[in-house]
Amino acid sequence: MQATHPDGLIPISMAMLSSSIVPGIDIYLKSSADSAAVLFCPAEDLPSFKRIEPLAREGVNKLFIDRSDRGKYQSYLRDNWEELLADESQSATNRMAVMSEVMRDVLNEEFTSGDTAGIVAASQSLARGSCQVIAQHPVVVNQLCSVLHHDYATFTHCTNVSFYCVLLARELGFDAEVQEEIAVGALLHDLGKLKIDERILTKPARLDEFEFREIQRHPSLGFEELTMRPDVTYGQLMMAYQHHERLDGSGYPVGLPGDEIHPYAKICGIVDVYEALTSQRPYRMPMNPSTALAVLDKGDSTEFDSEMLHCWRHLIKAQT
Ligand SMILES: [Fe+2]
Repeated sequence: MQATHPDGLIPISMAMLSSSIVPGIDIYLKSSADSAAVLFCPAEDLPSFKRIEPLAREGVNKLFIDRSDRGKYQSYLRDNWEELLADESQSATNRMAVMSEVMRDVLNEEFTSGDTAGIVAASQSLARGSCQVIAQHPVVVNQLCSVLHHDYATFTHCTNVSFYCVLLARELGFDAEVQEEIAVGALLHDLGKLKIDERILTKPARLDEFEFREIQRHPSLGFEELTMRPDVTYGQLMMAYQHHERLDGSGYPVGLPGDEIHPYAKICGIVDVYEALTSQRPYRMPMNPSTALAVLDKGDSTEFDSEMLHCWRHLIKAQT
């Protein structure tokens, strides 16, 4: 009889297992939401294809680990993400799930540490991985959406915005090198929020005037943090500084007109709003893609660059 687990489990995606890497963590399986978890793969065993494949065929996409093993699981992901991405047997969606999970985890830890050098270095390495996955596969937005998390944590938002920025930059014809530069800039675009009171960022109600002014400081704070860094390009710096600027001058922190807003910041501005609208927020439920697009459409040519918005709409509508 297989060992069962009483409780205290957290879900992980099946995509995080490879038949060539020993996870070093007990992995559990539940046959239904209410059933007891049974040990699927003990820490010291290899989760061979013989075990993984039947589950994948049955449509199982979630396994479980003990909550106390979370740290070990995060180390496993950090140590093995490049190998997991290189696994030819994994689908594009699974690879994106791996990348998304790793990006959120690494960014979470780096953001928490507040060490800008570490955040930039991690962003460069993660962006390389995500661009590699997107370049190798005909990734579409709805596949991506299905594997991304949609909570309101800043590191989740930055991870999602980075994926979206790469898709839009590619659609606009930017080459691979620029796509990667933009992916890094997107991971850093909200860096200034680390200096804003968490209670304001997660307030489950409409912000008052003071709180709104506080939030509006984050592009300048991000700029100040990144401006002296030799490993951050001008375009990346502008993504942090100008992603809330709007063509008609109605944005912040400066109210720049459209021709003074860097193109990378315009790309970031569009997907930033789309991501925020389609994710859970402390004060509202996520919007569906077409409702979010309708909101963006209201700012076509006035707030957002029309060609860029057209391309984003095309990417979303191609699959809805
Ligand atoms: Fe922002």
